[in-house]
Amino acid sequence: MVFNASIRYVADKLFVDAVDVSAIVRETGTPTYVYSLGRARDNIRRLQSAFARLEARIHFSVKSNGSLALLRALKDEGVGFDCVSAGEIRLALEAGATGDDIVFAGVGKTRDEIAYAVTQGIGWFNVENALELRYIDEAAADAGLDAISVALRLNPQIEAKTHPHLATGHGAAKFGLTADVIGELLANQAAYPRLDFAGIHMHIGSQLGDSAATLAAVDSLLALIRPWRHITTINIGGGLPVAYRWDETLPALEDLVDALAPRLCGYGVLFEPGRAIVADAGILVAEILYVKRQAGQVFYIVDASMAELLRPALYDAYHEVAPLQTTDGEMTTAQVVGPVCETADVLARDRRLPMLQEGDKLALLTAGAYGMAMASNYNARPRPAEVVVDGGAWRVSRRRETLEDLIQYET
Ligand code: LLP
Repeated sequence: MVFNASIRYVADKLFVDAVDVSAIVRETGTPTYVYSLGRARDNIRRLQSAFARLEARIHFSVKSNGSLALLRALKDEGVGFDCVSAGEIRLALEAGATGDDIVFAGVGKTRDEIAYAVTQGIGWFNVENALELRYIDEAAADAGLDAISVALRLNPQIEAKTHPHLATGHGAAKFGLTADVIGELLANQAAYPRLDFAGIHMHIGSQLGDSAATLAAVDSLLALIRPWRHITTINIGGGLPVAYRWDETLPALEDLVDALAPRLCGYGVLFEPGRAIVADAGILVAEILYVKRQAGQVFYIVDASMAELLRPALYDAYHEVAPLQTTDGEMTTAQVVGPVCETADVLARDRRLPMLQEGDKLALLTAGAYGMAMASNYNARPRPAEVVVDGGAWRVSRRRETLEDLIQYET
């Protein structure tokens, strides 16, 4: 069985590229995130070639996965970074990016974050608030800089077809600025002498399977900027979908590019995918601690939980479950649950899986985006180790947290 070119069974064992996952976790223990650098690179190259006609530059959305090892590998592929905090800017710089490679977005940037970004020479500010413009202009004055590139973020008031938590472009969302406000700000741009209003930004949501809303948003964005000839860069956000199920097919990327190309012709284009680059490059490996048969159900109680992978609890998200070792034995319908004291701590519901035993290991697939990035220490659980696989080689890129780590910040 092949989930993708990098995550697949070789005979009866789950491999990430040329490495048997069992061999990794025998050394690292579980729970552990494992990332295929090869798959992340393939995803980048696939996007770069699909979007080549638009001459679009990718800014990888760091919020989806901030692993430095991964960021370094992506940097080597020539991508920039989409950052939403000073912390993410720090990570991107650490990974070898320069300020120029970075887009700084976010609905609530603090003045300290703005000052940090300005002094780091950040390439673009995606702006979501009129007062934010004033703060950036003042930070530029303090730093003795001018011509700071800003892209106002349009909230096109269009509802994307996705999970409600992942839709950001509708009227009730906190994100962006409505067209009328953007019009007023552009008319008044001379009030911000150190800013260059050279761009416009939108991001209407994540896991966007249907391009109709994206295209409608692009059209309203184009109508908005038509009178402003100095706006030459359009940032179309992220949100490209990924397949979370074995049998899922996605709309062809080429169709989206075909529809975008005539619209965006003549503009510089930026986009900022996260999930589409790293989701299917990562898995979370867990061990079955207990098999509990109760009230007609089979529970596989594993050593990963909503603290390590929040998506199922938060979005009812579906992640495939793949035992590290397949068997031809009897199958059962199981609930894969974690040890956390919450009824919502279910990683996978009603799955047809082999009868497994305590000590057996399994992987939650497509966990490379918003997995470790959203992990917490809830229930005082040390966060898991991260491993990167590069072809036939692997290494621990972030060690497992320890009990001592949990108390280190207390004073
Ligand atoms: N640009 C902006 C302005 C964003 O807000 C986001 C994601 C992206 C780009 C990247 O979107 P992507 O290409 O990864 O879909 N935790 C959720 C996803 C939240 C996305 C937040 N913003 C999840 O686990 O599905």
